[in-house]
Amino acid sequence: MKRRYFIAGNWKMNAGPAETKKIMDGMKAELASIPASVEVVFCPPFVSLPAMASFVDYVGFGAQDVHFEDNGAFTGAISTSMLNELNAAYCIIGHSERREYFGETDSTVNKKAKKILAASMVPIICCGETLDQRKNSDFEAFVGGQVKAAFEGISPDDAIKCVVAYEPIWAIGTGETATPEQAQSMHKSLRNMLVSVYGVDIAAQIRILYGGSMKAENAAELLSQEDVDGGLVGGASLKPKDFAAIICAAQELS
Ligand code: PGA
Repeated sequence: MKRRYFIAGNWKMNAGPAETKKIMDGMKAELASIPASVEVVFCPPFVSLPAMASFVDYVGFGAQDVHFEDNGAFTGAISTSMLNELNAAYCIIGHSERREYFGETDSTVNKKAKKILAASMVPIICCGETLDQRKNSDFEAFVGGQVKAAFEGISPDDAIKCVVAYEPIWAIGTGETATPEQAQSMHKSLRNMLVSVYGVDIAAQIRILYGGSMKAENAAELLSQEDVDGGLVGGASLKPKDFAAIICAAQELS
């Protein structure tokens, strides 16, 4: 069974409200409508979510992080109920940049995943190894451990709603991409781990995205791999022409 492709744009700390509108107008000029066979989601900075919300008939949208508490003394944080109020339907968690610069841990990723699901939103759970880990350790076990920890205590019914994004840190924003074989091998290993927790039927429904310098030129090759169900795209998602090409590559493979 081929799962429905999921292509998400992670804008990181780029594009305020005005630029959001400009980029999305550009997207519509490139691609008048999103093909039904592909789920397309944009994750701009928090302050640009209201601007993105005006494109909700065109694409899905979500945040790049959220707190796991309802409210309270957490200066600078945003809650799921605030995201619900803006109709944001997705939230990225556990991105390597959040882990490295903002103290995100496997434990906070797990708490956030549960909170996001409880708020009827879709968590996009990121994982990935450093170059050093790839060279010197059992990196598949490390990344599998990140994902296992993220799903801890999540029911099978909720697990199928989750999206996993494998992003080798050495490929993020570097122009260096995992080869299709490297991506497939890791995705297969992650799926096997999910099989061991949830069984074959549930694991077969969970989408696993690849992220790390995905672009128009390499998208088709990566997306054609059996266990690569989409992409989490940084740099190229800010360029309408490039991002539209990635969406079209997914459509052609559907
Ligand atoms: P990149 O970023 O596509 O610019 O490498 C991907 C990501 O970090 O989500």
